[in-house]
Amino acid sequence: MPNASLKVLTVVGSLNKNSITRTVMNHVASQLTAQGCDVDVLDFAHEPLSLFNPDSAHRGAGYSSLKERVDRADVYLLGTPDYHGSVSGVLKNFLDHFWHEFAGKLFATIVASHEKGLTVTDQLRTVARQCYAWSIPYGVSFVDRDDVREGDVVSDALKRRLEMLVRDVHVYGDLLARQRQVDLAGTDVGFLARLRK
Ligand SMILES: Cc1cc2nc3c(=O)[nH]c(=O)nc-3n(C[C@H](O)[C@H](O)[C@H](O)COP(=O)(O)O)c2cc1C
Repeated sequence: MPNASLKVLTVVGSLNKNSITRTVMNHVASQLTAQGCDVDVLDFAHEPLSLFNPDSAHRGAGYSSLKERVDRADVYLLGTPDYHGSVSGVLKNFLDHFWHEFAGKLFATIVASHEKGLTVTDQLRTVARQCYAWSIPYGVSFVDRDDVREGDVVSDALKRRLEMLVRDVHVYGDLLARQRQVDLAGTDVGFLARLRK
């Protein structure tokens, strides 16, 4: 396992009071914490985010502290229910607020879906590509009752897949974070050159 304390921002993309997305994100957050990662949980049910307005005068009260948290993160672990084969509005709204903050960092995705969530996963990979972010080369999806019941992850299959995701987020997130620092500090050509101060 890597040594560095990787900074992971987990984003809960459901406002549902009894959200199964939240259950799984909390499960993953506690596993990452147990491995020494520095995990920051962003849950819009507790911290509402205003609707994105490109006019910076309308960014909303919490925007600057949220931007600091987004800037600080090495990895974005995005959880969303499948809504019409797409991401939830709350998650899309979060993504709309940022773009170059994501560049050179890692996206990992978890989708609550009755249909494997493939289109949702693909859409999040498109967002990552559009923002010059990396993405884990697979998604994790799950369903209520079979995988999650009464606030707990119950299926062994989902537990194993989440264990794999946690391992990969830690290992690849750390590799990419180190290389990102090298590229930002260096003079070499490469896509991160544009972000040098
Ligand atoms: C507006 C809306 C659209 C939905 N569309 C889909 C869908 O296209 N495919 C699917 O599998 N589930 C769909 N669902 C079901 C949710 O993905 C499912 O209930 C999920 O478990 C909710 O996650 P949550 O408990 O974290 O909010 C939809 C639910 C809503 C409210």
